Amino acid sequence: MSKPLGVAVIGAGMAGKAHAAAYRAASTLYRPTLPEIRLVSIGDVNAEFGQAAATRFGYARHDSSWQAIAEADDIDVVSVVIANSLHREVVEGLLAAGKHVLCEKPLSDSLEDARAMAHAAAAAEERGVLGRIGFTFRRTPGIAAIRELIQDGTLGRPLHFSGRYWTDYGCSPQAPMSWRYKGGPGSGALADIGSHLAYVGEFLCGDIRSVSGGELSTAITQRPLPLGAVLGHDHAAVSETFEPVENDDVASFSAEFASCIGSLSVSRVAAGHPNSLMFEVFCENGAASFDQRRPAEIGLFLNEGPYAQNGYRQVILGPDHPYIAGGLAMDAPGVGFGQNDAFGYQARAFLEEVAGLPAAESLPRCATFDEGVRNMEILGAVAASAADAGRRVEVPSAEKPALAVVR
Ligand SMILES: NC(=O)c1ccc[n+]([C@@H]2O[C@H](COP(=O)([O-])OP(=O)(O)OC[C@H]3O[C@@H](n4cnc5c(N)ncnc54)[C@H](O)[C@@H]3O)[C@@H](O)[C@H]2O)c1
Repeated sequence: MSKPLGVAVIGAGMAGKAHAAAYRAASTLYRPTLPEIRLVSIGDVNAEFGQAAATRFGYARHDSSWQAIAEADDIDVVSVVIANSLHREVVEGLLAAGKHVLCEKPLSDSLEDARAMAHAAAAAEERGVLGRIGFTFRRTPGIAAIRELIQDGTLGRPLHFSGRYWTDYGCSPQAPMSWRYKGGPGSGALADIGSHLAYVGEFLCGDIRSVSGGELSTAITQRPLPLGAVLGHDHAAVSETFEPVENDDVASFSAEFASCIGSLSVSRVAAGHPNSLMFEVFCENGAASFDQRRPAEIGLFLNEGPYAQNGYRQVILGPDHPYIAGGLAMDAPGVGFGQNDAFGYQARAFLEEVAGLPAAESLPRCATFDEGVRNMEILGAVAASAADAGRRVEVPSAEKPALAVVR
């Protein structure tokens, strides 16, 4: 077992708290193969938020600048969980200081910055310093189970993917202005939740080769400034001063995957859907469905038996499905699984890689920054399609840095 690992989380907001809790849980999952995990600091420019999170999740201190964390000798591993436009400066500074960095999605708010970050991560990796990105749904048991059913031939080759990630955090015109509503085309709902949905689509159906029919829409064009600091999707008290919303509330597009065609739609104004990542994947031998509102089950339809008696079945997840056995304190069938558990798996996966545990004995690794760039290239292609009357736009492979428009 390697030396103890000191952990910090930068950002004590909505997702920052999930990372803080996840590092605390990480060593309680599976067998005790991790080195000692020391919960050292929560960094937030808002000292009140930093202090509250440090106390709540048992971190030794809080810091109010990322530089203090970069300079700290007792910190080895840092999650960066702040607004997308701030990722580059903080991540590059931490990597340069020799910290292993787990950055939240999307990698940045611009492709240029994301590519620079991938460059910095490649250089850091040569010095043994890791930069990874947390696509939290990568180890969600239901999604992983469906992927296994595709890959082992039970479902077989996907023929059609239909995915939605609908949320309602921007549904009210009184929802306060925040960093989420600022940025260029595609930096709104598409970047915020489309990043997850595109990632999940590729996870199941292979690389997206092109997108078409891109549509971006701003449904609520101005929002009131908050009277105080806003965390996550909080509906804080607001002033009577409004600022324009700069980016998309709703986005949709068609995707040409390696194996099939798909339609994807995201929204942050979908009343009644706080956090609905839902998809169906129709395959050669049947179909499967997943709904984040019921994340501890999947729907499965297999083309077998008399057609008149066939139908979707509900499969409740348990220890026979990926990552559950040993991954929950009580890992009996049907005990449930939630998004916070997925953050625990993500933190565990990152710590396992940092600690040098072999991939074969670990949870699936966190994604690389190159995968983060690729994810942003897909979103960039959707924005380019939307800007050009829904034209089909090729998504470059990793070797092709520029977007190519297919006429
Ligand atoms: N994987 C997921 O499921 C998931 C969910 C939500 C958010 N996210 C991602 O997490 C990131 C943060 O989102 P959020 O909703 O938690 O944001 P948030 O607005 O709730 O919190 C951001 C925090 O960062 C702090 N902050 C601002 N500037 C800072 C700086 N320079 N240094 C340190 N702290 C600073 C703020 O005070 C605030 O507490 C984003 O990249 C977002 O896309 C991921």
